Amino acid sequence: VTQPVPVIAIDGPSASGKGTVAERVAAALGWQVLDSGSLYRIVALAAMRAGVALDDEAGVAAIAATLPARFEAGRVLLAADDVTTEIRTEACSVGASKVAVLPAVREALLGWQRDYRLAPGLVADGRDMGSVVFPDAALKIFLTASAEARAERRYKQLMDKGLAANMQSLLDDLRERDARDAARPVAPLMKLPDAALLDTTELDVEGAVAFVLDLVRGRGLAA
Ligand code: DC
Repeated sequence: VTQPVPVIAIDGPSASGKGTVAERVAAALGWQVLDSGSLYRIVALAAMRAGVALDDEAGVAAIAATLPARFEAGRVLLAADDVTTEIRTEACSVGASKVAVLPAVREALLGWQRDYRLAPGLVADGRDMGSVVFPDAALKIFLTASAEARAERRYKQLMDKGLAANMQSLLDDLRERDARDAARPVAPLMKLPDAALLDTTELDVEGAVAFVLDLVRGRGLAA
């Protein structure tokens, strides 16, 4: 009997650090990694470039279904164009959260996301990894932190990059996005009953990675 390729699903709110934790866990295990949020960001960027309105469900879904995007050596390519930095801009964050509410867009991205499930295993992060994309994941984690802690981390990141930031507006922004992600009718962000809660309000990245790897080993998913 062939076993399905194991998946670790890490879901959680913006700026919780789930992307960093997913990458480190994947590196420690030698598994594949999927940053599903980046797909929504690329779709938003491609739609904006094509002049397709972000609420044109059929138009955006058509773009999502035929997107010439690739991940290569840590870079994100849209056709021949390196869009690694551009998809992280505020315009793409807002755009991504708009296209993410469209069921036809989410549907169009399903197959692409599932294609990342390759041996020996996959660590996938997003909002609906455990609920919709990989409901049979071997391990589901809900990774969160208080809005204050997340805003503070984002503030530090921006300062380190020499960018201007305002703590209160970062906090307001995060709360607004949390509400939008959790309140939408399709694939809302939620903690599943079978997900382990990982609250990083008082925990650093190393601690979070160790928590996940302990669960992985405890379940016999890796040596
Ligand atoms: O994780 P992120 O900030 O890169 O995600 C960008 C947007 O995409 C965010 O508004 C939530 C949405 N998203 C989603 O709806 N489902 C996912 N699996 C991942 C991201």
